Amino acid sequence: MGHDMSLSSQNSTDTTSGATAAKAGAKADANMQWGGRFAGGPSQIMQAINASIGFDKAMWKQDIAGSLAHAAMLAHTGIISAEDEVAIREGLTAIGKDIEAGRFEFSEALEDIHMNIEARLSERIGEPGKRLHTARSRNDQVATDFRLWTRDALDGLDQQVASLMRALARRAEEHASDPMPGFTHLQTAQPVTFGHHLMAYVEMLARDRGRLADTRKRLNECPLGSAALAGTSFPIDRKMTARTLGFDRPTANSLDSVSDRDFALEYLSALSIMAMHLSRLAEEIVIWCSSPFSFIRLSDAFTTGSSIMPQKRNPDAAELVRAKTGRITGSLVSLLTVMKGLPLAYAKDMQEDKEPVFTATDAAALSLAACDGMVRDMTANTAQMRALAGSGFSTATDIADWLVRVLKVPFRTAHHVTGRLVAKAEEKGIGLADLSLADMQAEEPGITNDIYSVLTVDASIASRTSEGGTAGSNVQREARRWLAALDAEPAATSEGA
Ligand code: ARG
Repeated sequence: MGHDMSLSSQNSTDTTSGATAAKAGAKADANMQWGGRFAGGPSQIMQAINASIGFDKAMWKQDIAGSLAHAAMLAHTGIISAEDEVAIREGLTAIGKDIEAGRFEFSEALEDIHMNIEARLSERIGEPGKRLHTARSRNDQVATDFRLWTRDALDGLDQQVASLMRALARRAEEHASDPMPGFTHLQTAQPVTFGHHLMAYVEMLARDRGRLADTRKRLNECPLGSAALAGTSFPIDRKMTARTLGFDRPTANSLDSVSDRDFALEYLSALSIMAMHLSRLAEEIVIWCSSPFSFIRLSDAFTTGSSIMPQKRNPDAAELVRAKTGRITGSLVSLLTVMKGLPLAYAKDMQEDKEPVFTATDAAALSLAACDGMVRDMTANTAQMRALAGSGFSTATDIADWLVRVLKVPFRTAHHVTGRLVAKAEEKGIGLADLSLADMQAEEPGITNDIYSVLTVDASIASRTSEGGTAGSNVQREARRWLAALDAEPAATSEGA
């Protein structure tokens, strides 16, 4: 995990809450960064609604990285001197250390992380610090920082998804041939294997990673140098800053650069779909744990007790994963609503872009960690799953298929014959395999003893060797294929058992 950039968004701060600020009509001093034409400062309410430092300080690392790249480019192109660049670099590095050590006092009067850091830099190193903002604006600065933050968060989540896929594939390999009832409409349908069921989630999560990778491709263009909205008259080198910051290229249109938040929306869309997947897994875990099912058991590590009912073992982590989906989807809707109808280019509305992304990232990281933990922790009750896999006439389709295959009965006719056999077994209160041959032949005289060979759960499963089918051999091959693919990924993904 380790989303220090996301977790730090929740740090307490010295900034005043809106409610506290609202009690006074008092005014602050004019802003030291842009206050030249202002005689007085903003009212405290203005300051409270305007400030973003309470949350955007989470982007301090990205802001320093962006400024370092910008300063290096300014020196390279001769816009500032080499000495100024050294002073800026040393100053920013020292500020980074202060923030890291919790020694930096964030000021609400300085609105946001960009002005907090820049003001501190000027305090520390004087004149060179005041040259840093040449040929840029907070509009391209924030767009750059936010892309960098989102890219880091996306990479972190991608690794977590890979880890969950690995955990699922391992459990699937272990239970490749263990039967469980397969459901449609949550009614017993046909036997499948527990491994096959787990591998379904591996496929879903692989698509989630694909969406994250797609998002990353379009995100990875650098807006820095677009300045406020129109570009700049300075001879900047945007390719250089883009390269330094690990972007593929600079963005093409300055107006689009400062007003685009598609990368955040795509990221939240990808997270929303992923959260929906996790909520389905979580819901299944809740069902599987409930005592009438008892398909799996979670240890004390992933359950909680009840304060009144001593027998209870509640799957709270799964329930909360199921619920966090609301927060993540809500974040997507929130940002879509902020962006809808905004005229070009930057508008302050866009400052409301960060909290949804931070919130969704925290929720997704925690949900993935919880799912990963539960999948590794759970113990499968294979006897119970096997017993229920054969209940509910789950091999009825196998009878129909036998009639088609052996007696060449048309499938629709076979379906009717089998339906009558199910009705007969139900009437007698027995399973399909317990019907006598005479009972079977009363419905279809051609039936022989051979039909009993397809009525067991294991035979039903073993016969489903079609591509993507539930036969144990298929499941084992798929689990191994995925484990090998995940292991073949670059180092970052190869975390342990
Ligand atoms: N705090 C602002 C944000 O998050 C930074 C950009 C402000 N730009 C401006 N022209 N007021 O969007």
